[in-house]
Amino acid sequence: MSQILPHGGKLVNCLATGEQRVALLNEAKSLNTIVINNWTVSDLDLIAVGAFSPLTGFMNESDYISVVQKMRLADGTVWSIPITLAVDEAKAAELQVGTRAALVGEDGVTYAVIDVESIYNVDQKVEAVNVFKTDDLEHPGVQKLLSRPSTYIGGAIIVLNRPEPEKFGEFYFDPSETRRIFAERGWKTVVGFQTRNPVHRAHEYIQKTAMEIVDALFLNPLVGETKSDDVPANVRMKSYLSLLENYYPSDRVFLGVFPAAMRYAGPREAIFHALVRKNYGCSHFIVGRDHAGVGDYYGTYEAQELLKTIPAEDLGITPLFFEHSFFCKKCGNMATTKTCPHGKEDHLTLSGTKVRSLLRDGVCPPTEFSRPEVAKILIEGMAERPVSN
Ligand code: ADX
Repeated sequence: MSQILPHGGKLVNCLATGEQRVALLNEAKSLNTIVINNWTVSDLDLIAVGAFSPLTGFMNESDYISVVQKMRLADGTVWSIPITLAVDEAKAAELQVGTRAALVGEDGVTYAVIDVESIYNVDQKVEAVNVFKTDDLEHPGVQKLLSRPSTYIGGAIIVLNRPEPEKFGEFYFDPSETRRIFAERGWKTVVGFQTRNPVHRAHEYIQKTAMEIVDALFLNPLVGETKSDDVPANVRMKSYLSLLENYYPSDRVFLGVFPAAMRYAGPREAIFHALVRKNYGCSHFIVGRDHAGVGDYYGTYEAQELLKTIPAEDLGITPLFFEHSFFCKKCGNMATTKTCPHGKEDHLTLSGTKVRSLLRDGVCPPTEFSRPEVAKILIEGMAERPVSN
């Protein structure tokens, strides 16, 4: 069995090197400039390295409309999340289809050039309702979306400079690198695991259950922008390293970060997460309870239900679905209702709020909920940051 193909068949590469890069950096000096925030820099970089294959730039109007309405690009390829470049009206008025513009970060770095193909106005409430299933401003993804201007620029990009990781640089791998590494290790089947949280026992249980049937686990925590009450990426990274060192076979796990922003789009983001992990070379992808959800905007298994509507040949990667996992005191092990006959009263369940409050008080949650090594790191991490729920 050969390695899974990237989405759309080919790994996109929009990184300029050598003379082309020097020439474009020179050209960029005289181009109109669009200032982009860190979120857009991260999208840009992920497009350039092929993590978002088959996208070669920010979406033009026809792809955007098709994705919002049908979860497919204009050519029919499955794609669930709009990847767009928003500019204010004044900037849009300066730009013209058929011209090139420079994309410059808030740090003054020229990250890329874009060949402007499409300039279009959108109804962001329609986008919100389709992508997030709500236009409630309390939803962090909706809030972010509606805070952006509603004119979008579409077009292919060429990246000239890449963002420098602030920390844990050794865990940044492009899809071409993870694909090479998986092949070198002889892994034919690799299961991808998305997370924006510390890995607790429930996560560990579903990862290891999946590891029983595939060659390896790609632990791929999202480390881009998350909402302020999520555990910061640097604390999580320390906890992953400690967990892997103590409880996982080192020859069957690979840790690499996913430097994307979290959208909190639940079901639609689960599809997006799966497609991106396919680009990194994963053959399988774990989807558990309320994947990429927030608050109670999505049903516990809604992400799984939506994924099941996509024909297997259109998705390519195989999703592995897991029910809500917990520790059962009567069974004396981790389980789900698929494997445990006991009632809720025998199951250990702790809300996120309860866990945070324990950790803030310097108390380790029970070992049936979280490994002590992980809890210790989270307690130290909590002590270093201001109180939030
Ligand atoms: S996510 O926003 O990145 O999806 P999280 O890091 O909590 O959130 O979850 C990572 C993955 O583990 C997701 O696929 C999620 O559905 C799954 N998951 C989290 N907790 C549980 C649980 N108790 N039981 C089963 N699956 C879970």
